[in-house]
Parts: sequence; structure tokens; C-alpha cells
Amino acid sequence: MSYDTLCSMEQIEQDLLNNFRPPAFPGSFFISFEGIEGAGKSTQIIKIKDYLESKNYRVLVLREPGGTPFGEKLRSAILNTKTTLHPVAEAHLFAASRAQLLEEVTLKELSVPNTVVICDRYIDSTMAYQGIARNLGIKTILDMHNCFPLNLVPHLTFYLKISIETSQERQKMRNAPKDYFESQGIEFYRNLVEGYEQAYQLFPKRIKLIDAEKNGDEVYKSVLKELVNLLEN
Ligand SMILES: Nc1ncnc2c1ncn2[C@@H]1O[C@H](COP(=O)(O)OP(=O)(O)O)[C@@H](O)[C@H]1O
Ligand SMILES: [Mg+2]
Repeated sequence: MSYDTLCSMEQIEQDLLNNFRPPAFPGSFFISFEGIEGAGKSTQIIKIKDYLESKNYRVLVLREPGGTPFGEKLRSAILNTKTTLHPVAEAHLFAASRAQLLEEVTLKELSVPNTVVICDRYIDSTMAYQGIARNLGIKTILDMHNCFPLNLVPHLTFYLKISIETSQERQKMRNAPKDYFESQGIEFYRNLVEGYEQAYQLFPKRIKLIDAEKNGDEVYKSVLKELVNLLEN
């Protein structure tokens, strides 16, 4: 299959997209950070957590896959596998971890007023990684998530966008051993960026595109602006 075919926008009905909604708990917010490795997700999450706590929110940071005892087992099984997983298996493992996290943690926490749950990666990662880079198609991923609780999406998602070159430079700086996804080639990364682009086009209200090539303070300013907008409206 050619790159063009792989990346052509699929026909996804508005009815399907409308089934994805944020959880309705007054006074509580669900947000996620997305972007390829090195985009600055972890860096920005720390700053945003501090900001929110200074405004007296209870803040929980969750990571995907993982975040529950069972989810952490799935995380290490996925990230440390020595054999390539079938994309369908991979997508279902991520969804299993996500459903468990929603049930055991996210929804319970959000039911407490004044809570912000921040997810380091969420459904858009699955669209980018398994949907496009692993070639399942974005519609397959959305169909898989089209039931409670997997159809719950964040109020706001920050897509920290960087180039593949910047990603590689920052990963080198970080100097940690590469995991299952990080050791993929350039073509894989190109597909990830395309996947995030498609997710952004499908969910333009929820996803805020942030230029994360800029320095950390500039990125933080852009993120904060959108966040304050959410909290105040
Ligand atoms: N805006 C930025 N400009 C330059 N370097 C950054 C920026 N944001 C993060 N970094 C650095 O890049 C590396 C990866 O950042 P990190 O927050 O871990 O990214 P992610 O969690 O998205 O993989 C870290 O060494 C971090 O200090
Ligand atoms: Mg990180």
C-alpha cells in the first residue's frame, strides 16, 4: 500500500464522531497531552499541574498505557515485547488498559468536584500509532472505542507538534534506552505525524495544536492560554 493511500482521509461519519464526548462532572476537567516522543508532554504536564494546584484544583496525572495495577502489567508487556505484536492485538491491549483506567481511576476522581485529570497520551495516540502508523485505519480505532467508557474523551487535548528531526534531537539529549516504539524508523514517525494531523482534523474543537518547536516557556504560555479559557468558560 502506498504512503498516499495509507494517509488519505477516510470517510468517517459525523454521527460516529458525535458519540465521543467528555464526561459530565460539574467543576471537574479531563485533559490530555499528545505528540511524538520528545514533544515536551512530560515537561508541560509538570508545569500545568503546578499551575492548577496553585489555583486549588486537585490534580491527577495518569499515563497510558498503565495507571492501574493491571494496566501497568499491560504497559510493560507492550513496551518490552521482543516480538512484534499484531496491530489488532496492540490496539486492543491499549484499549483494555484505557477502559480499566477509566473505570478504576478517571471517572471516580472526576466525580469529586474541582478535580483535573491529566492524561499523558490518550485516544489520539491510538489513532496515530495503531490507526495510521500500524495501518489499522482511524475508523477501526474509533469503532473500537464506540462504547462506554471508551467513548469518553477529554474536554481539551494539547497536541504538542514538533518535527521528526526535533524529536530525534531531543531523544538523544534525554539519553534513555529506546523502548518498543522509540526504536522504530523515520517512516513510522512520519506516519505518526500524519495520524495526529488526521485526529486534529476530525476533532478540531477538542484538540488544540501547539507549536512545540518553540522554547519551553513559549509552549507553556500557549498551553496556559487554552487551559484558562477552558476553566473560565
Ligand atoms: N520546548 C522545548 N524546547 C527544547 N527542549 C525541550 C522542550 N520541551 C522539552 N524539552 C526537552 O526535550 C526532552 C523531551 O521532553 P519530554 O517532556 O520528556 O517530552 P515527551 O514527554 O513528550 O516525550 C527533555 O530533555 C526536555 O527537557
Ligand atoms: Mg514523556
